[in-house]
Amino acid sequence: MRIIVEKDYQTMSKKAALMVASQITLKPDSNLGLATGGTPLGMYDKLIEMYRDDEIDFNEVQSFNLDEYCGLKADHPNSYHHYMYQNLFNEINIQKENIHIPDGAAEDSQQECRDYEKSIKRARGIDLQILGIGSNGHIGFNEPAENLNVATEVVDLTEETIEANSRYFDSKDEVPKKAISMGMATILKADRIVLLASGKNKAEAIKKTVSGKISTQVPATLLQTHPEITILLDQEAASLINKEDLSADCHFEICE
Ligand code: GLP
Repeated sequence: MRIIVEKDYQTMSKKAALMVASQITLKPDSNLGLATGGTPLGMYDKLIEMYRDDEIDFNEVQSFNLDEYCGLKADHPNSYHHYMYQNLFNEINIQKENIHIPDGAAEDSQQECRDYEKSIKRARGIDLQILGIGSNGHIGFNEPAENLNVATEVVDLTEETIEANSRYFDSKDEVPKKAISMGMATILKADRIVLLASGKNKAEAIKKTVSGKISTQVPATLLQTHPEITILLDQEAASLINKEDLSADCHFEICE
């Protein structure tokens, strides 16, 4: 595991964008796993800027989003489809047919989950997976539980997540109670993973993710088993990490 602590949200976002850009430079037909939420917005802004400056070309890139709310059509302002088009896809040259996001409004959501897994397999897997993290340690929408899903499934959102995500909706009642999310194995099969976290409210979850025992009650702890994982943080999100608790092979770097 590699932990990089950047001064603030801006520098963290810039480094994340550079990681994505170098992936695409090395492999122009990369498959990117993408996340939503507030955290990756700065990275998406920077990627758009790099695209406009001719520093990055998305023409051959395929994207696979982590999750989508059940019951929201693609054009719903709170759907992750809408988020992705608004915050990235409308501004870059990714081909529409190369964009993959689970359809939360699919009539047969079980079939949609199976099809989504197949589409990732058909593309030969994800080269670089970007992740955010919930303050309860969820990744994608894999919520703390006794058992976690292996593959893409319909999941129930926890009260904590509904509360946290209600800031994007008019009221808490409007937040869907279910979502389609990539499973833990789907995520862990990515060749490289970059997890982003910013702010004090993520510090506890990050501490557990990097130094806690592996537990399905903090799904992000499973990332400790991945051979190519980078945890990219700002100082606030890193504030509770105790260097002594990190495993010997963990690379810890503070950027001034
Ligand atoms: C949602 C998404 C996650 C995301 C998390 C954190 O629940 N399903 O993929 O990582 O929120 O969001 P934020 O970055 O807004 O804190």
